[in-house]
Amino acid sequence: MLLFNTMKQQKVIEPIDPSTPPQLVDRFGRIHNYLRISLTERCNLRCFYCMPKDGIPLRDKSHFMTAEEVIKMAETFTQLGINKIRLTGGEPLIRKGAHDIIHALGKLGVTLAVTTNGILVDQFIDTFKAAGITSVNVSLDSLKPERQARISRRDYFDRILNNIYLLLDEGFQVKVNTVVMNKVNNDELVDFVELTRTHPLHVRFIEFMPFNGNNWNWANGIGLEEMMSTFDAHYGKANISKLVEKPNETAKCYTVDGYQGTFGIIGSVTNPFCGSCNRIRVSADGKMKNCLFSPLDTDLLTPLRNGKNIVPIIAKSILGKKAIRAGMATFNDISNPQQVNQNKSMVAIGG
Ligand code: 5AD
Ligand code: SF4
Repeated sequence: MLLFNTMKQQKVIEPIDPSTPPQLVDRFGRIHNYLRISLTERCNLRCFYCMPKDGIPLRDKSHFMTAEEVIKMAETFTQLGINKIRLTGGEPLIRKGAHDIIHALGKLGVTLAVTTNGILVDQFIDTFKAAGITSVNVSLDSLKPERQARISRRDYFDRILNNIYLLLDEGFQVKVNTVVMNKVNNDELVDFVELTRTHPLHVRFIEFMPFNGNNWNWANGIGLEEMMSTFDAHYGKANISKLVEKPNETAKCYTVDGYQGTFGIIGSVTNPFCGSCNRIRVSADGKMKNCLFSPLDTDLLTPLRNGKNIVPIIAKSILGKKAIRAGMATFNDISNPQQVNQNKSMVAIGG
């Protein structure tokens, strides 16, 4: 049984009551129980807001976690109180052995989830079910096939949409992630919400975030308030109901009265939700990130390979976590390329 809580208590300590579950607590009292593991830095799409134009350098396989190491890493974190694991990428489903990894993680007794671009989902329905996955997030940025192809630099629109419907038919809870960008897809906000009229989907609009190599400029972004005024103007404020906020929820969620589905807005740029952050990330090369925006990675894979106990390393990283966006608390901070470009590309972080 392990407990970490204050800056001074960097050492693993025994809780007084051994029935207390272990927890990863940071200096601000945030309990970290949600781990996002990237299975690969590679992707079968090239979304321009995620992947630099020329891709990212390919590295030798030896730099990345083997299936066994992914599972070992996941087991270690579950012993520290992690109760939800999301698989990300790049595109997690193109990882060799993804089926086996998902089956193995399904045995850990945590809530298992996946974020995918949807292209290969039809080949994973049985694996998802066997592993106890009930909720799948699919990224889709346009309902216009040509536009989607332009954004992702590949044409897979029909497969993605069909797989979203397949997931629904198969009884999965489906969240559609849409990155909203000015003059790119902001004219489709209402079209996406219209999907929720007859489909029990949850559409999540994500503010365009800055990462290394994505040429971010807020002139290309659309803020949460602006999105909301588009919906208010179209549907009428009185016809949109706010949903009760779940703990650790990143999105502000709504439903249009009478619609089967719901929608949410993730305001990472204009409305950071760091106060309730419970997330830890491990990239495909086994580096831990205590915040999506942190330029500092903590190598867990090398010590794991050397037979070292990685628990104190994880604890130290959690204690170094900053209150808001890795120290970029203000809009000026987050719009400063010098700060943001120290981070990795999104495709290497995994969302
Ligand atoms: N801004 C906002 N969201 C992004 N994603 C990838 N890059 C960005 C960005 N720059 C989203 C993807 C995916 C999720 C993992 O993160 O669309 O749905
Ligand atoms: Fe691939 Fe997702 Fe990045 Fe698009 S956003 S390039 S689908 S990892």
